[in-house]
Amino acid sequence: MAMAMAPSSSRVISLLLCLLFTLISHITAQPSFLYHFCMNDKGNYTENSAYHTNLNTLLSTLSSNTEVDYGFYNFSQGQGSDKVNAIGMCRGDVKPESCRSCLNDSRVLLMHRCPNQKEAIGWYDNCMLRYSNRSIFDTMEPDPTYFLWVGINATDMNQFIQVLRNLLESLRTNASSGDSLKKYAAGSTAGPSFQTIFALLQCTPDLSEQECDDCLVRAISNINDRCYGLTKCRIGKPSCNLRFDTSPFYDSTADASPSSPSKESPPPPVTNTNATSTKGKSNSTGIVIAVVVPIFVVLVLLISVCIFIRARKRKRSFHNHNDTNNNISYWLPTKKGG
Ligand SMILES: *[C@@H]1O[C@H](CO)[C@@H](O)[C@H](O)[C@H]1NC(C)=O
Ligand SMILES: *[C@@H]1O[C@H](CO)[C@@H](O)[C@H](O)[C@H]1NC(C)=O
Ligand SMILES: *[C@@H]1O[C@H](CO)[C@@H](O)[C@H](O)[C@H]1NC(C)=O
Ligand SMILES: *[C@@H]1O[C@H](CO)[C@@H](O)[C@H](O)[C@H]1NC(C)=O
Ligand SMILES: *[C@@H]1O[C@H](CO)[C@@H](O)[C@H](O)[C@H]1NC(C)=O
Ligand SMILES: *[C@@H]1O[C@H](CO)[C@@H](O)[C@H](O)[C@H]1NC(C)=O
Ligand SMILES: *[C@@H]1O[C@H](CO)[C@@H](O)[C@H](O)[C@H]1NC(C)=O
Repeated sequence: MAMAMAPSSSRVISLLLCLLFTLISHITAQPSFLYHFCMNDKGNYTENSAYHTNLNTLLSTLSSNTEVDYGFYNFSQGQGSDKVNAIGMCRGDVKPESCRSCLNDSRVLLMHRCPNQKEAIGWYDNCMLRYSNRSIFDTMEPDPTYFLWVGINATDMNQFIQVLRNLLESLRTNASSGDSLKKYAAGSTAGPSFQTIFALLQCTPDLSEQECDDCLVRAISNINDRCYGLTKCRIGKPSCNLRFDTSPFYDSTADASPSSPSKESPPPPVTNTNATSTKGKSNSTGIVIAVVVPIFVVLVLLISVCIFIRARKRKRSFHNHNDTNNNISYWLPTKKGG
């Protein structure tokens, strides 16, 4: 569209550019979810309705609760058809303070990402938050499922898969036998090619041992869908999640030393992650693609505009030095991890 503009419209182009930068810096201002689902088919609430008020109250109560120190929050707010239920769960090794801060971020972002939706779920590295008008406690929900992976095959795939399976089986028993406050297990083992395999499994602790086990069995079998033979993968479901990697990613001292003073682990490096979600059986949508494609289009457009402006500058030797050249670096990945 910019290409077709008359020569005198360079100010319009600059303005457009400005708007684009503003838009992008706005989008990147908040850490984004690893993944989220807005449940479009589960109903919408109206602005300032009782449901809306209950949701706001519930989520701020949840994310500011300082009594829970085991990383699991299951709260409700309201009565009858305006009742809202929410579950917040932090990764088993996350300290209470980081947990609260993660849930607080989730609260803001999930309502922003899924405006007026009665039901939604979002995952960060450190926590998961979901809410609904239905009863969601003590219920095993294996769908929807998200996958995040890096497309690097293990060098010795068959042996890698075998070792990984053994590790996951052992962790599955340990996670599902956890108590009603925490169902979490993380561990590592020596894999082929001098690599160490790290893995983590977790259920919401409101599930029974059997339900947790069922959920984890499904998550583990989902490895075949997207992550077969790969060295890095995450699979998340409302009731449980799984992650494995050849680099360490969890705090193995978390249970041993309850409160090492403010030792925040640094955000993990941004990896070239490929994302998708299951189709058909696992009832989910291609949200990541829906986000990535428009951003890519905008990026191409912006670069085109910049090239266009630079070409014009050269031709007419503008003296108003704008910052179009430098601004390109603004586009390079600045995403905060987690
Ligand atoms: C939740 O909201 C949907 C849509 O408004 C409604 O059909 C459903 O009955 C509600 N569920 C409960 C348990 O109130
Ligand atoms: C709720 O709103 C979303 C858009 O915000 C729409 O896609 C969806 O169909 C609506 N759901 C219902 C049940 O009306
Ligand atoms: C929670 O998030 C809000 C909005 O981003 C922020 O103003 C507030 O300081 C946060 N609270 C905590 C305890 O982090
Ligand atoms: C990984 O292995 C699969 C076979 O299981 C193969 O189809 C694929 O091309 C491999 N990918 C890479 C990046 O080597
Ligand atoms: C919330 O979870 C705790 C710990 O798992 C449990 O004791 C409690 O009964 C749950 N509350 C509700 C309302 O389900
Ligand atoms: C599972 O728990 C047992 C007993 O606490 C422990 O010995 C074992 O190492 C755990 N397995 C893994 C893979 O962490
Ligand atoms: C992501 O995965 C899809 C399907 O396996 C593949 O076609 C695509 O090339 C991958 N993209 C990247 C960037 O790895």
